[in-house]
Amino acid sequence: MRAVLAYSGGLDTSVILKLMQERLGAEVITVTVDVGQKDDFEAIEEKAHKFGAVEHYTIDAKEEFAEKYVSQAIKANAMYEKAYPLATALARPLIVEKLVEVAKKEGADVIAHGCTGKGNDQVRFNLGIKALAPELEILQPVMEWELSRDWEMDYAKKHGIPVSDKIYSIDENIWGRSIEGGPLEDPFFEPPEEIFEWTSSISSAPDEPEYVTIDFENGVPVALNGEPMDLLTLVTELNEIAGKHGVGRIDHIEDRTVGIKSREIYEAPAAVTLIKAHYDLEKLIFTKWLLEFKDAVDSKWSWLVYNGLWYEPLREALDAFINEAEKAVNGRVKVKLHKGNAIVVGRESDNALYSKEVATYEHFSTFDQKLAKGFIELFGMQSVMAYSSRAKPMGKVPEGSPLAAKSH
Ligand code: ARG
Repeated sequence: MRAVLAYSGGLDTSVILKLMQERLGAEVITVTVDVGQKDDFEAIEEKAHKFGAVEHYTIDAKEEFAEKYVSQAIKANAMYEKAYPLATALARPLIVEKLVEVAKKEGADVIAHGCTGKGNDQVRFNLGIKALAPELEILQPVMEWELSRDWEMDYAKKHGIPVSDKIYSIDENIWGRSIEGGPLEDPFFEPPEEIFEWTSSISSAPDEPEYVTIDFENGVPVALNGEPMDLLTLVTELNEIAGKHGVGRIDHIEDRTVGIKSREIYEAPAAVTLIKAHYDLEKLIFTKWLLEFKDAVDSKWSWLVYNGLWYEPLREALDAFINEAEKAVNGRVKVKLHKGNAIVVGRESDNALYSKEVATYEHFSTFDQKLAKGFIELFGMQSVMAYSSRAKPMGKVPEGSPLAAKSH
């Protein structure tokens, strides 16, 4: 058996690497995809070889992740259950793509990963692999071999695999950091300060606010504080700036695909800031009909991505709609970062539907107020009539209503 293993260098995947050789006599090719997790990739490669990988790939996919996945998430204002910017979920289809590429190149017949049977990532990995390479077998040892943490620790010690005493499960990429497990499993327990790495606490964040401007083109951020830059650089810089001000801490009770409710903590300073800014700009530019309809599209898009349905044609069709709408989303947003808040305080666009001449309460307004009278009458006619109609059985139809009993 020749197998590709998604390898993080952690306890689970190191144990799996050894076990696959021991139990299946597999030749294992390890793959680590760099999507911006702050890891030592050389040390991971060394470990892979030490624990018997016949070949190791470190694939830098940060730019591709930003350009193809993060940019689309911004256009879709992607927030699962109004809270989670989807960092982990978004990276999975890209990681799958890389695993499949290596598997084909290396003539492997199996792809293995370290997901448990309780999370979302197994759904995302497995559906992705099935879509791209249905001929490949999927091996999910933690679930299939029922590996428990205690057993793994024991096995690791025997095989010289380093074990840490970490109590949290963490996943990281440029779009955010996910933290779960340990004492956080009690949803009433306040996240302790020590779990946060990207964000300051509100008390230690600077007392003075900081302003940033973000320029958007076709719905995608293209400049920070007036300086043009690629999305990867922009997101990386904004994670620093907004993180310093304590922006982007999220404490979320989340519905997993498999039905479990879980308590998740996220740090996503750039994601929170950019999506706020982007949505604000849409409100300046879109008609009310487009804005309202796109809200539903956005939430469906997030739902599909969260649930591992990246390859679902509905996702592609929604993307086509989103890309069409986003052609107008060009402009600049000013955001004030202060003590855990990202507050939009200004926006401008050549495509704005906002007009001071129309909106102003001053005398020079071009809006003809008198038209409002007839408009309101027609606009609410049915609702007003229905109100009377509901009163009819009680004999209480308001006088003057078109539904009031005629006296002839
Ligand atoms: N709940 C999130 C998701 O399903 C994050 C999971 C991240 N995994 C972790 N080990 N912390 O996308």
